[in-house]
Amino acid sequence: MTREHSFRLGLLGSGKGSNFAAIADAVATGKIPADIALVASDVESAGILTLARDRKLPAQFIPPGKFRTKLDEDAERAFVAALQSANVDLIVLAGFMRVLKGDFLRAFEGRIVNIHPSLLPSFPGLEAWKQALDHGVKVTGCTVHFVDAGVDAGPIIGQETVSVLDNDTPETLHQRIHAAEHRLYPECVAAIARGEISIVGRKVIRKKI
Ligand code: GRF
Repeated sequence: MTREHSFRLGLLGSGKGSNFAAIADAVATGKIPADIALVASDVESAGILTLARDRKLPAQFIPPGKFRTKLDEDAERAFVAALQSANVDLIVLAGFMRVLKGDFLRAFEGRIVNIHPSLLPSFPGLEAWKQALDHGVKVTGCTVHFVDAGVDAGPIIGQETVSVLDNDTPETLHQRIHAAEHRLYPECVAAIARGEISIVGRKVIRKKI
């Protein structure tokens, strides 16, 4: 399939941006056939914005408004407008710490992906690596999934496992999960950009082109 325009990514993050960096590297080397059209954050001092500016990519702080865990109405409109005017085909959440709601989800239905640091549906929510360690599981990992109205709940695109070691601390386990994320996320985004991914009910089907 040839596209008239390049596949355009919009990345949203609130933190240090190591997943953004892994994706930006994969774009730069051609492993992901796409362009990064916009990097936006709800946190003015977020590392993800610094990393994006260092790479001369369009980076924007958008104030999140009055709530702590979601965007308020004006902020939601501002994020949607910025992403639409950047003409993004896919929104990649890379450590974006706010739950996306109705109008945002409707504007980009089926075109938002997220990475979560556990093997979903186990351990949704915050500090998933710590939840896994506290529960005593022997294997955890990370999951790339489409975003729907639930929390960490949409159709699963890819997963990578990480063994839990007897002497793991939350920090050592989190570190290995992060390393797995940096492999898995670019690979899943590349498959979407190549048009290999479709959603059938809860299942994500991958066809090789
Ligand atoms: C990752 O652990 C990801 O699973 C979660 O947020 C974290 C972002 O880390 N959704 P970074 O900012 O990409 O380093």
